[in-house]
Amino acid sequence: MPYSLLIRNCGQLLTMAGSAARGPLTGAQMRDWPILENAFVACENDWVVALGPMSELLETHVTAATQVLDAGGRVVMPGLVECHTHLVFGGNRAHEFQRKLQGEAYLDILASGGGILSTVRATRAASDAELLENALHHLAGFRCYGVTTVEAKSGYGLDAETELRLLRVAQEAGRRQPVRVVPTFLGAHVPGPEYKGRPAEYLDMLMQEVLPHLNPQEVPFVDIFCEEGAFSLADARRYLEQAQAMGFGLKIHAEQLHDLGGCEMAAALGAVSIDHADYLTPAAAARIATQTQGQTVAVLLPLVPLFLRQDRYAPGRAFIEAGLPVAVSTDFNPGSCPSKNLWLALSMACLKMGLTPREALAAATINAAWAIGQQQHCGSLEPGKRADLLVLDVRHYEEIPYWLGENPVRHVVIGGKLE
Ligand code: NIG
Ligand code: FE
Repeated sequence: MPYSLLIRNCGQLLTMAGSAARGPLTGAQMRDWPILENAFVACENDWVVALGPMSELLETHVTAATQVLDAGGRVVMPGLVECHTHLVFGGNRAHEFQRKLQGEAYLDILASGGGILSTVRATRAASDAELLENALHHLAGFRCYGVTTVEAKSGYGLDAETELRLLRVAQEAGRRQPVRVVPTFLGAHVPGPEYKGRPAEYLDMLMQEVLPHLNPQEVPFVDIFCEEGAFSLADARRYLEQAQAMGFGLKIHAEQLHDLGGCEMAAALGAVSIDHADYLTPAAAARIATQTQGQTVAVLLPLVPLFLRQDRYAPGRAFIEAGLPVAVSTDFNPGSCPSKNLWLALSMACLKMGLTPREALAAATINAAWAIGQQQHCGSLEPGKRADLLVLDVRHYEEIPYWLGENPVRHVVIGGKLE
């Protein structure tokens, strides 16, 4: 079979290969993944079929039907995996940016009826077509940044009908363009405005009126925000246990602003990821790593404390030393991170959380794939995986988090097609 696409002369081919059968990369594995110098990667239709040093390229598979891309000595790597976004929403919160700059805190804005609830009003008022257009706009932005898989949470409807609508929009957006979309149900973002002060009743409503209508094959994860002003530890546990009994994988937003114990609780239930974790202590991280045998991924979101003007960043370095696998994501959303620049998040993970460039790259590819159950399909370059890959405008991986705020992407390939 001839190759349909061949990328030759890759100065450094960052494979992140080898973990798919075992688990997310932990400890030293996060910085020891293979780099091939002067290499090629070959695809047949949607799939990677071969890679290796240029000297091992089988020219017999390269025919007139093969599209050949010369990387010219540049870095080639897997497409980025964005494992935590709130993709579908109406409006924006530029008006609250001023309030934040004047010193108002995130939870105070929420308590005054703004924050997440202001986006809920805009989202409920938007038509399906408007929400879809916005989601497609944001996916196009992600694609420019080399993001080839995006997790997309609901959570700005906060009633049964709108939450289901947001998941349908996310799925439709996935069908309309090449970036792959993995939907997550975050109806338990905060209690809906109709349930103010009655969080447990709101969760009962979700368990009775929404979860039974979702198919875990299509919406694989259920997420909850465990925080003051959102849901308590006890409510979150009860809700996640029910979601698990119904066949969903689990995720949690926890230890973002306070240490309520949400990460440890969700990890004990076997959550695929624990997200934010800015207030998670290294001791608790070590307990989680041991208890889950490194299967639960801590998703670090360094652009959030930056945008919320907070000093506290998750101790990512300590998490890695404790054996907890970490991923990095933007948390793209209109309130705490209106940025799709995952490269900037990588730089910030190095600057503020102590990751090395190699760890940060693993965190935004293979470990991010694990954090959304996509490790069989994406996050590394190896035969049998989807041909989602990037040619970057740099010649050494160390440059990637160094060029602060730049987009190093020169070419994006999704499913073997040059975009
Ligand atoms: O992940 N922390 C809770 N939820 C989102 C922000 C949502 C919003 O402010 O609109 C987050 O940061
Ligand atoms: Fe989030």
